[in-house]
Amino acid sequence: MKILFVGDVVGSLGRDMVTEYLPLLKSKYEPTLTIVNGENAASGRGITEKIYKQFLKVGADVVTMGNHTWDNKEIFGFIDKAKQMVRPDNYPKGTPGKGLLFVNSKGAEFAVINLQGRTFMPALDCPFEAAEKLVEEARKRTPHIFVDFHAEATSEKQAMGYFLDGKVSAVIGTHTHVQTADNRVLPNGTAFMCDVGMTGPYDEVLGMNKEAVIKKFRTSMPVRFEVPKEGRKNLSACLIDIHDRTGVAKKIDRILINQDHPFMMS
Ligand SMILES: [Fe+2]
Ligand SMILES: [Fe+2]
Repeated sequence: MKILFVGDVVGSLGRDMVTEYLPLLKSKYEPTLTIVNGENAASGRGITEKIYKQFLKVGADVVTMGNHTWDNKEIFGFIDKAKQMVRPDNYPKGTPGKGLLFVNSKGAEFAVINLQGRTFMPALDCPFEAAEKLVEEARKRTPHIFVDFHAEATSEKQAMGYFLDGKVSAVIGTHTHVQTADNRVLPNGTAFMCDVGMTGPYDEVLGMNKEAVIKKFRTSMPVRFEVPKEGRKNLSACLIDIHDRTGVAKKIDRILINQDHPFMMS
């Protein structure tokens, strides 16, 4: 079985890439489960119900989130009915939404878990403790478990990978928006990479208008970051091959689509 995971979709250029390439990626790789991180999908800040539904329409089975989950206030009106969405689990008790989702696809059951790191990020409950609890719960139902670990520090991500090695099919990092080349299967069979990368503007800084970001670095003055609506586009993803019965990962490949890495059907 294969899991296709598309990293942080940023703004309209990111959504255009998903609409254009997700169907092509699905017909090329025939994934059993397709997951899209949508935390930056609405102008870089959160997600709307319309965008969430659009992702499902073009082929996502699950939408994961991150530290930008609450940035678009529409989320509070639909997160509890968004059955195919997970947000980081380790928010305080009583926070809307859920961090673990069971989903059936092509005759197999999967568990998708979303967690957020704490290093160089807002203080939350311990993601390792949350992971331990959720993985135990998930393993009662299925060995096919995917974890989107939304975190800044590569060390925290590697630590989570080894912490869950052999207990889940994959621990894939999101949030930094830069794809890392460390895709590998850990010794006990968990597919891992520090960051899958982002999907959106190709010539900006992490998807945000580069002039504003440069100004911020040079002046330390408050600057509003905007997501450009025009320009070259990029899609970042990974494809994980897992054992049908055990959920153990066999292989993880990186996917990049942009002008430097054109998509090829065969
Ligand atoms: Fe992001
Ligand atoms: Fe993020």
